[in-house]
Amino acid sequence: MKEIHVNELLLNPMDKIAHEWMLITAGTLENGYNTMTASWGHMGSIWGHGGGLPTSVIFVRPQRYTKEFIDREDYYTLSFFPAEHKKALGYLGSHSGRDEDKVAAVDFHPVSVPHGVTFEEAALTLVCRKIYRAPIVEENFIDKSVVEDCYPKRDFHDMYIGEIVEVYTKDA
Ligand SMILES: Cc1cc2nc3c(=O)[nH]c(=O)nc-3n(C[C@H](O)[C@H](O)[C@H](O)COP(=O)(O)O)c2cc1C
Repeated sequence: MKEIHVNELLLNPMDKIAHEWMLITAGTLENGYNTMTASWGHMGSIWGHGGGLPTSVIFVRPQRYTKEFIDREDYYTLSFFPAEHKKALGYLGSHSGRDEDKVAAVDFHPVSVPHGVTFEEAALTLVCRKIYRAPIVEENFIDKSVVEDCYPKRDFHDMYIGEIVEVYTKDA
């Protein structure tokens, strides 16, 4: 893996997250980790000075096992994969680490990065330092139709904003 500066990233976050999907991973190889697929999230800039901090925003429902690790740790990683791994991402997004070693099931190979875990198969990894967590709350929806559409069980996400502190790409 090669570390690059966040400003070298050339991507369309809407397309990349929504259509390629990503893995949100938290924990360490030493103390345990878990991972899950996500297709909702943001990348941008907020806080700090001189242009703001490069940040990611992720949305995690309360029942996800991965949430326990995100809440335990100070960091999470976002990993993006070549299209050939989409089936594996589908599996990791429909099975829980509570029930099985799903990473072994898709034959992904976890590797340590500073503050977290990514996968040998990943083309791009963002390491994010948690800054802010807030629940999505029903009364704050201006467009109430989203509540029925996305939260029929009222399992509102927690939103996390994390500073992107390291970016790794796969060696060419
Ligand atoms: C394409 C796709 C996108 C998903 N996006 C999210 C998301 O943004 N937030 C979320 O909480 N769950 C999302 N999920 C669901 C979790 O990945 C899924 O519930 C997973 O099995 C949780 O695993 P865990 O219990 O091991 O954490 C998505 C699933 C798929 C297949």
